Amino acid sequence: MTLAQQIFRSSLGRKYIAALTGAALFVFLLGHLAGNLQVFGSPDLINGYAHFLKSKPLMVWGARLGLLVCLALHVYAVLSLAADAKAARPVQYAGGSAYGSSWRSRYMVVSGLVILAFVVYHLAHFTALLPGINGFGDFRVLKTELKGVGEVPDVYAMMVLGFRVWWVALFYVVAQALLFIHLGHGLAAMFQSFGLRNHVWTPRIQLFAKAFSTLILVGYLSIPVAITFGLGREYAEQATIKAGGAIGKPVGQTETPAAPMVAGTVEAK
Ligand code: HEM
Repeated sequence: MTLAQQIFRSSLGRKYIAALTGAALFVFLLGHLAGNLQVFGSPDLINGYAHFLKSKPLMVWGARLGLLVCLALHVYAVLSLAADAKAARPVQYAGGSAYGSSWRSRYMVVSGLVILAFVVYHLAHFTALLPGINGFGDFRVLKTELKGVGEVPDVYAMMVLGFRVWWVALFYVVAQALLFIHLGHGLAAMFQSFGLRNHVWTPRIQLFAKAFSTLILVGYLSIPVAITFGLGREYAEQATIKAGGAIGKPVGQTETPAAPMVAGTVEAK
């Protein structure tokens, strides 16, 4: 048996895989949050940042490939460990779950699968820019001029318009809440898998897990919440007007909080 086969077959090996890939995904979440928080600066700031990333295709595609591999390994390791645990105890504990298992750990698999569904939606929403799923129209037409660069995709307008659709904002909020639960347990479990579990380290690890899952929750939630309460409203109105008929009223909203529709704009179906 090769070393890789030994790692994948042993439950300890799969725990290490889940912990290492979870750590890598967590580092991505921190970096992604730092990038997204630039929405609180000027539109040029986040548009310049998005342009910088797009101008480094090798770096971006390398990171995407790494993320995909980490995500696939993480899901495989966690689901196979959960299946093994279930097979080892075909008869449920009285009350449904093991004594001492926290409500968070019981919801790990469910929260993880909803987060996965969120990521698929999120990629279609902001990376692939599929027009049918944002509730507004075709975000690909949103362009802006960046000093010294020329015309670039208007990521700021996409984010503001994207979260002006109430059901999109709600889905993001639900996903962030589940991510908070998932990280709160997952971060602590990660250190346990590396053997850090004793009366000195356990309280510190739990504090770390609570602090960082809260940081991620508050950071990511702040964006749809600020937009719902008016961040970028005027800018989005101008972007809507500039886009003409390609961007319409948000689906499911009777009044447009953005621009009054100008001649030639159509309602998104
Ligand atoms: C308020 C919350 C969030 C906002 C505003 C946001 C915004 C964005 C934007 C604008 C992009 C497109 C970047 C581009 O292609 O130019 C993106 C990509 C992405 N986001 Fe988020 N994001 C949020 C939360 C999340 C969360 C919670 C996750 C993971 C659980 C996530 C995972 C990703 C991934 C994997 C990509 C693809 C990166 C790539 O294109 O290479 N995002 N996000």
